[in-house]
Amino acid sequence: MKMKLCVILIVSTFLPVNSVFVYKFTELVGCSDSVDEPILLYSLDRNEIVFEDYKANNQVSRLPPFADPVHFENLYDYAISKRDNCIQTIENVTATIGNQTENKVPPDCSIYPKHDVVPGEKNNFICFVTNFYPPHIKLRWMRNGVFVTEGVYISQFSINSDGTFNIFSTLTTTPDKGDRFSCMVEHQALDSPHSITWDESMEPPRLTPSVTPTVVFAVGILGLATGIFFVIKGTCFR
Ligand SMILES: *[C@@H]1O[C@H](CO)[C@@H](O)[C@H](O)[C@H]1NC(C)=O
Ligand SMILES: *[C@@H]1O[C@H](CO)[C@@H](O)[C@H](O)[C@H]1NC(C)=O
Repeated sequence: MKMKLCVILIVSTFLPVNSVFVYKFTELVGCSDSVDEPILLYSLDRNEIVFEDYKANNQVSRLPPFADPVHFENLYDYAISKRDNCIQTIENVTATIGNQTENKVPPDCSIYPKHDVVPGEKNNFICFVTNFYPPHIKLRWMRNGVFVTEGVYISQFSINSDGTFNIFSTLTTTPDKGDRFSCMVEHQALDSPHSITWDESMEPPRLTPSVTPTVVFAVGILGLATGIFFVIKGTCFR
C-alpha cells in the first residue's frame, strides 16, 4: 500500500524566569490521504500533555493524576482546521512535486512485564515500539497465540528528534503459569507482521538472598561515614 503522509511540526522553546530548566513544547499535527486518523497532540519535552480524540470530539489529558489538569479552549475547532490545512498541504505538495516515495524505517520492538510475573497476580505487559516512520502502525496482543482485546491500551505517538515515532501498548491481565504473551506489530516498513513474545524463560534471575545483606551493610557503613563527616564538619569548621 502506498501512503503519503504529511507531518507539520511547530516547535518552540522557552525559558522560565529565574530557572535553568529549558522545556521544549511541541505541537504535532499529522494527517494522511489514505488513512483517516489525524493527529493533534501537545508535548512538553517528550512527555505528552494532551491529545485530541477526533472521533469522540474530546481532548484527552495525558498528565499523571498528581499534576494540575490542563485544558485548551476550543481545541476541537482548532484541531479540525489543522487537519483540513494538513490535507490541503498534501494535495498542494503532491500537485507540485508529484507522489514522493518516503523513507520508511521499521520499528524496534520490545516486550516486558511491569512487575515480576507471579502466576495468579494481576500485571501489565508492555509492548514498546520505537523509531519507526511513517507513524501509521497497528499493534495487537495475543495470549498463547489467541488475539485478545480486553485490557488493551494503546498510547499516542511520541516523536523523536530525527522525525521517527514511538508508541507503546499495555495489556492488563492476570497471567497463569506457562502463559505466553505476544505483541504483533504491523508496519509498512516490515514485509510481514512482526511478533515478539514474552514467556517465563524471559524472567530475570532473582537476587540470591546472600547478596542483599552485604549490600545493605555496605550502604549502612557509607551512611555512617557521611554522618560522622557532617558531625565533624559541623563541630570544627564553624
Ligand atoms: C494550497 O493551494 C491553494 C491554491 O494554490 C492555496 O490557496 C492554499 O492556501 C494552499 N494551502 C496550503 C495549506 O498550502
Ligand atoms: C499520486 O497517487 C495517487 C494515488 O495514490 C494518484 O491518484 C495520483 O494521480 C498520483 N499523482 C501524481 C502526480 O502522480
